[in-house]
Amino acid sequence: MNKLDHLAIIMDGNGRWAKNRGLVRTKGHEVGAKAVTDIAKFCIENSIKNLTLYAFSTENWKRPKKEVDFLMKLLKDFLVSKRDLFIQNSIKFHTIGDIEPFTKDLKDEISNLKNLTSKFDKLNFILAINYGGRDEIIRAANKALGHSKDGKLSEKSLSQNLDTSEFGDVDLLIRTGGEQRLSNFLLWQASYAELCFTPTLWPDFKSSELKDIIQKYQKTHRKFGGL
Ligand code: FPP
Repeated sequence: MNKLDHLAIIMDGNGRWAKNRGLVRTKGHEVGAKAVTDIAKFCIENSIKNLTLYAFSTENWKRPKKEVDFLMKLLKDFLVSKRDLFIQNSIKFHTIGDIEPFTKDLKDEISNLKNLTSKFDKLNFILAINYGGRDEIIRAANKALGHSKDGKLSEKSLSQNLDTSEFGDVDLLIRTGGEQRLSNFLLWQASYAELCFTPTLWPDFKSSELKDIIQKYQKTHRKFGGL
C-alpha cells in the first residue's frame, strides 16, 4: 500500500458552485473556506502529515478588485476564526508563496497563527497564498545560487530552497471542479505525484470522497520511472 505523507489540493469550483445557486461568486469562496475543516480533520485521523491547499495564486490578483479584496478578508477571518481548530487539534500552520505584498494586518495574522501553532505536530497545514510554482522555483534557484560555492545548482540544492523544503514531494494531488490542469501549483514537487481530477466543486467536496480517492491511490503502482 502506498504511504500518503503529502496531500495537495487545488480547491477549484467555488464560483460555479455559487452561480449554480444564483448566488454571488464570493459566497462560493465563503462556503469553500468552511469545507477546509472537514478535510484537515480527516488528514489527522488518517495520519497524513502534510496538507497543502491552494488558496490564492500569483495569477489570482488579475481577478476583479472586489473579489480579491473579499478573498483577502476571508483569509484574514479564517486565520482568526480557526485558531481553536488549530489549537484543539495540534495543527501547525504554515504558508508557502510570497506573502510580502499582503497588507500588514494580514501578515500580522499569518505570523500570529504561525507562532501560536509552532510547537504542534499532528498535521502541517500549509496554505499556498500568493503562490506560483514558477515564482517559487525562481526564488529557490536564486537562494540556492547565493549559497553555492561553485555557482551551480543541483536537484538537492534547489529542493532544499523551495518553500516546501520541510514537507517533501507531493504524493497525491487532487483538483476539484473538473478542470484537468495544474495551474502553476507545486510544479517541482508534483513531478511524481499521483493526480486526481474530480468534477465535484470545492464547496461540495467532503472527506467521504477524499477517503475513496485515497483508497484508489493506495492501490496504485507508483513506479517513479522504474518498473
Ligand atoms: C478557485 O475557485 C478558488 C480560488 C481561487 C480560491 C480558493 C479559496 C477558497 C477555497 C476559500 C478560501 C480558503 C481559505 C482556506 C481561506 P474559482 O473561483 O476559480 O471557481 P470557478 O472555477 O468555479 O470560477
